[in-house]
Amino acid sequence: TGTMRINEKGHLEIGGIDAVELAAEFKTPLWVIDEQGFRENCRRFKEAFSAYGDSLVIYASKSLSCLALVKIAEEEGLGLDVVSGGEIFTALKAGFPMDKVFFHGNNKSREELVMALETGVGRIVVDNFYELELLNHICSEMGKKQDIMLRITPGVEAHTHEYIKTGQIDSKFGFTLPDGQALEGVRMALDCKWLNLKGLHCHIGSQIFEMASFRHATGVMMDFYATVKNELGLELDELDMGGGFGIFYYKGDEPCDPKDWAEAVMLTVREKADEYNLKMPRVIVEPGRAISGPAGITLYTIGSRKEVKGIRKYVAVDGGMGDNPRPALYGAKYTAILANKADKPVREKVSIAGKCCESGDMLIWDIELPTVEPGDILAVFATGAYNYAMSSNYNRLPRPAMVLVNEGKAEVIVKRETYEDIIRNDVLPERLRK
Ligand code: LLP
Repeated sequence: TGTMRINEKGHLEIGGIDAVELAAEFKTPLWVIDEQGFRENCRRFKEAFSAYGDSLVIYASKSLSCLALVKIAEEEGLGLDVVSGGEIFTALKAGFPMDKVFFHGNNKSREELVMALETGVGRIVVDNFYELELLNHICSEMGKKQDIMLRITPGVEAHTHEYIKTGQIDSKFGFTLPDGQALEGVRMALDCKWLNLKGLHCHIGSQIFEMASFRHATGVMMDFYATVKNELGLELDELDMGGGFGIFYYKGDEPCDPKDWAEAVMLTVREKADEYNLKMPRVIVEPGRAISGPAGITLYTIGSRKEVKGIRKYVAVDGGMGDNPRPALYGAKYTAILANKADKPVREKVSIAGKCCESGDMLIWDIELPTVEPGDILAVFATGAYNYAMSSNYNRLPRPAMVLVNEGKAEVIVKRETYEDIIRNDVLPERLRK
């Protein structure tokens, strides 16, 4: 998807703009988001699911949340998944319709819950017994009834990185299904007179390629809907199957079509609804990475180089784990090209180092590129998700700017941090000021 190509100069172009010009104008490192790509991704999921019936696609804003992109998700008719007061605040300030906001998290604070209630968040996805009681109590104090879902841990293993798989039983998230916690949770929720249980939610992990995992999880959830009906006489209105749709980062990644995901989930829901004589719930899905990820690239400028004879050539860029912690954190792999030599043949194998003071700050190991020289612009692909969102000021590096590109125009949507921003919250006690 999106608008990337190689232009007449042999440079990478995105959103109708030469990436080398973007780097010159806005400096590097730079996050670049292709508006058309982001919008197309929203549409692909929305269309895929709505083709099968009553559904709502909500954008998982944890993958990339800022005013402009939350606003665009709204324009595309998506709902929003938020996981913190900060993400709620962003939605609010972007003018997002709060009734289409779903609030997740395994340890929402009292303040965050109050904020969610005051701002009129559509669904609070309750994670555990403690929160169920806490929320019911806060609602009674505020005299406000709230629509909720319960997060269920279905006990489904998805094949992905240990840290981002969440459906297995031994997880910090949710009411576990196999041991009876889930049914107990539903029973308790029905007793909470300030809470209105709309349905159940599960999320089996992230960067998933096997649609069989989603089919399996959906089946398990629908089996449980039947149990809830049999045991408690309740037919739930909604089913939220979470996010996790995988994208291409590196060779070997084979993403499916959103239509495959829609088919896996929606057909399973329908089959099970028929089998158990249940009404079709409204289905919600929460893609994050698959919407923001492929729409983003990061531009860096190449600086120093070091060769360990016969072993490896290191070339360093002006960013690294501060703007993209994923390689250091998960061993995540990325592909990249030289934006100013996009039409040049491959000449050498190098490893791309970040500039942070630790050996683990390596963005890409062993990548084939044209001859790499200082001043070249490296473009790393698929950095829209969980890059800016997980960025830090480690080593007191200011965060890069983010620009939105579309039809030859570029607009800053997140300003580059300054050194003043870096010390903004520092306080020098009076006694140290001489
Ligand atoms: N819904 C829930 C309840 C989630 O926990 C998540 C992601 C999503 C939706 C969106 O998943 P997506 O479609 O983006 O895969 N930082 C990690 C990813 C953590 C995902 C956490 N939950 C990474 O960089 O790979």
